[in-house]
Amino acid sequence: MTITVNGKAYHIEADPQMPLLWAIRDFIKLKGTKYGCGLGQCGACTVHMNGQAVRSCTIPLSAVGQKEITTIEGLSADGTHPLQQSWQACNVPQCGFCQAGQIMAAAALLKSNPSPSEEEVRQAMNGNLCRCGTYLRICKAVLQAAQSAESTSN
Ligand code: FES
Repeated sequence: MTITVNGKAYHIEADPQMPLLWAIRDFIKLKGTKYGCGLGQCGACTVHMNGQAVRSCTIPLSAVGQKEITTIEGLSADGTHPLQQSWQACNVPQCGFCQAGQIMAAAALLKSNPSPSEEEVRQAMNGNLCRCGTYLRICKAVLQAAQSAESTSN
């Protein structure tokens, strides 16, 4: 099976039912996307599939087909995505385990809603769990990234 991740095609010899997360981490060796629950409940494995946030632990390889997969490594070539900058400015991570999933969920939100309200951020990020409880900083960073993207586009 051939899948496209971060703009590059990878041929993967594996069971079509294998979760996409396994392909990303164990075959392609991109380790930014994390395994948390394996049940679609924590959001640590969030990647984009054709720009939509999905939980890669619940997507079988056979469902990927020609769709474009983007992982945290492909969000920006040099780590300068507004979210990556605001994440640093707001000192968001504590242990860091869930943060790639958080950023990918936030990036999908800002793509569909570039100027979300605080409530909209909270709702959109609701399913991404953080065991350190960095939720307030996550919300602040998402709002800050939205503002900075808005001010650079004006
Ligand atoms: Fe996929 Fe938890 S590891 S949602």
